[in-house]
Amino acid sequence: MDIDDEFDFDFDQYPDFLDAMPGLGSELFPDKELEEDAEGFIDCAFLPLRDIVLFPQMVMPLFIGRERSLEAVRAAVAKDENLIVATQRDSDILDPGLSDIHPIGTEITIGKALRMPDNSTSVLAQGRRRVEIVEFTQWDPYIRVRARPVREPMEWDRNTEALMRAVITLFEKMVSLNRNMPEDAYTFAINIDEPGWLADFIASTLNVPVETRQDILETIDPNQRLQKISIVVAKELDVLELENQIHTRVQQEVDKSQREHFLREQMRVIQGELGEADVFAQEINEVRETAERKVLPAEARLKVDKEIARLNAMPPMSPEVGIIRTYIDWVLALPWMDVTEDNLDVSHAARVLDGDHYGLEKVKERILEYIAVKKIAPDTMRSPILCFVGPPGTGKTSIGRSIANALGREFVRISLGGVRDEAEIRGHRRTYIGALPGRIIQAIRRAGTKNPLFMLDEIDKLGNDFRGDPAAALLEVLDPEQNFSFSDHYLDLDFDLSQVMFITTANYLDAIPHALQDRMEVIEFPGYLEEEKLEICRQFLVRRQLEAHGLDTQGIRFEEDALKAVIRRYTMEAGVRNLEREVANICRKIARNVAEEKKFTRRITARKVEELLGPPRFSEEVLSEEDQVGVATGAAWTAVGGDIMFIEVNLMPGKGNLQLTGQLGEIMQESAQAALTYTRSMADVLSIDVRRFEETDIHLHVPEGAVPKDGPSAGVALATAIISAFTERPIYRDVSMTGEITLRGRVLPVGGVREKALAARRAGIKTFILPQKNESDLENIPKKLRQDLRFIFVTRMSEVLAAAMHVQPRVRKRPAAPKKSIPARPPSAAPPA
Ligand SMILES: Nc1ncnc2c1ncn2[C@@H]1O[C@H](COP(=O)(O)OP(=O)(O)OP(=O)(O)O)[C@@H](O)[C@H]1O
Ligand SMILES: [Mg+2]
Repeated sequence: MDIDDEFDFDFDQYPDFLDAMPGLGSELFPDKELEEDAEGFIDCAFLPLRDIVLFPQMVMPLFIGRERSLEAVRAAVAKDENLIVATQRDSDILDPGLSDIHPIGTEITIGKALRMPDNSTSVLAQGRRRVEIVEFTQWDPYIRVRARPVREPMEWDRNTEALMRAVITLFEKMVSLNRNMPEDAYTFAINIDEPGWLADFIASTLNVPVETRQDILETIDPNQRLQKISIVVAKELDVLELENQIHTRVQQEVDKSQREHFLREQMRVIQGELGEADVFAQEINEVRETAERKVLPAEARLKVDKEIARLNAMPPMSPEVGIIRTYIDWVLALPWMDVTEDNLDVSHAARVLDGDHYGLEKVKERILEYIAVKKIAPDTMRSPILCFVGPPGTGKTSIGRSIANALGREFVRISLGGVRDEAEIRGHRRTYIGALPGRIIQAIRRAGTKNPLFMLDEIDKLGNDFRGDPAAALLEVLDPEQNFSFSDHYLDLDFDLSQVMFITTANYLDAIPHALQDRMEVIEFPGYLEEEKLEICRQFLVRRQLEAHGLDTQGIRFEEDALKAVIRRYTMEAGVRNLEREVANICRKIARNVAEEKKFTRRITARKVEELLGPPRFSEEVLSEEDQVGVATGAAWTAVGGDIMFIEVNLMPGKGNLQLTGQLGEIMQESAQAALTYTRSMADVLSIDVRRFEETDIHLHVPEGAVPKDGPSAGVALATAIISAFTERPIYRDVSMTGEITLRGRVLPVGGVREKALAARRAGIKTFILPQKNESDLENIPKKLRQDLRFIFVTRMSEVLAAAMHVQPRVRKRPAAPKKSIPARPPSAAPPA
């Protein structure tokens, strides 16, 4: 056989697994006798093998590369001899000597020799039997060896049988698990009846290291060989099972991600068809462009970029898209760096302030000072935090607006009335569904600049409950040490509020939490005098309302009497809100005439006012027509400013009970008790028969019973009414009083004196009795008030009685007797203040 001629080998007939199927290709091999010499040795050409082990009975292609090996094959073919192969210990050695090969090898018969397309040669070899190589007998041109065939013991017992079955069971499992092994291998294995061969066959099919195969080859005893192979197969099975588990898991993962990928692709295609994906991509682009154009602080920039990246990675239909969009919109909409420049022209500011509001000198002055200082020291000047306190309608909110105008700042206002949740100030965290920033940040967005004039209205009406204390959040807002980094829960970014000018407003100072009061500069807005109201009305309200009703070109004029009538008979208030409302009322009625093209008067007189507004709501004469016994005029401090109140006492035969009516609060009831005790203790001095206290029931009533009244300041009035009732000395009708009373008759100072005094004057009171300690409260009261009202400052109850009551008891009128004139007031009782 010549190697060069043999090219007719059909590779299609040489299945991949041929090497695992000994015998399948046996028809390719000449049926050659196994020979040995007389001493039992074989002398053959030798092929060293690299990385493979050839077992007896197995057919396997051998690729011949080395020249010496090629020569060996040629010689064997030429002489029609068998060859001996053995595996090299180290596959890297090119010319192995005896010590470089494993001594146990295999005698083989060569079938076909093939020249391969790459010019190498391949032979198909069949293993015949195990041999032990004894020595090399030739080196050149090819190696020949002397070897001795290895005889296997051929006695098998039950043990062997059991081993064979065990190995076959294992092998079956392995074949079923190993995807690379043909099922035929198992069929083949169960048809092998020789234990040694079975072990060899299985070893040759396994994907195990060369050393393991060689070990099997070198194990001569079939039982031992079976044992070894069963261990190898078992190990292999473990690995395969593990591999299979991993494979299954990987497959599942792959399936899942493939499924998702597939669905996503599908969605993309659908969205593409609907044009949605494009719209979304375009939207993101727009957001990105807006973000790039916007000047942002570094921290906000980072956050926005991150959110845009998140948005980008999201399918357009995801519910989170909207949430992230809203957030980005908020961040981009805020005036992080936008400021307006303050107009620091003092005279301009003065003109604007005077142009909008009458009076209110204190506030105006404070603002002008601020502007002046800011002009000189622009950097060191912190915005003051002002707190405007006063009764409703006194211009607190509206002057805030005008201050913003004067300064050239944006104006924003939030009302804190009823805010009881910290989150309303500071926002909800984004994890809340429908979360938004708090009111502060919302207002800043409305302002559009980071230095607006920010009005916090009704700070005295803040609530607080389990949801957290909004006042605490406000503390941070109003603290110049902290508010440069105000953190809103929703934004989760610090916003600088330090350039904001905050103004808060309140009706009562006492209702503002102390910590907050501490941070603010309080400016009081006292109620207006009638004259001031008249001026405000003349200069501002009338003009404003005429304009608002489109009457400014009709030449309508309000006479002074008309305005006075509105003030006195249609309103009763410290501010001018109702006054403005009534003026608006009149304007509306005129406007209707104009619209209906009816005749209307252009001169509004007091009579006309009554015609338009109907019967007066308040009578100017609230005071009784004559001085009465048991009726004292007190003064109260209410939400609408000050007011006067009448205290009535009636005595009846009884057992000395004191009945109090008119919704008197606890403190006021105690004041009444104290007043009665004082009266009893002074019975002597007041010439009251002590026994009368046991035989008389006292009823004390404060009219307008539906209005709750409280506080200690009615003490002197209560005592005066009781004493008047017991002594029958009438009380002057035009004297009003305020002050707390002790059991010993001392008079203690009270609050709200200015408002009370204003109310007293409004009601037509001429003399106002008040505690000595309150004198300082009247320091800067309007001159007009001093002219019309006499103030008497007292320290003791006796002084009150002297100033408020007739000296003589009332003379009881007899039915027939002629009317007596009211006794004149003794000059000493009411000295000029
Ligand atoms: N001194 C004034 N000059 C001109 N208008 C005034 C003056 N005081 C008040 N007003 C007008 O009275 C109306 C009510 O004022 P505003 O709303 O500012 O009251 P307020 O003090 O904020 O009351 P509240 O405590 O109830 O909030 C406004 O239209 C305002 O312009
Ligand atoms: Mg207001």
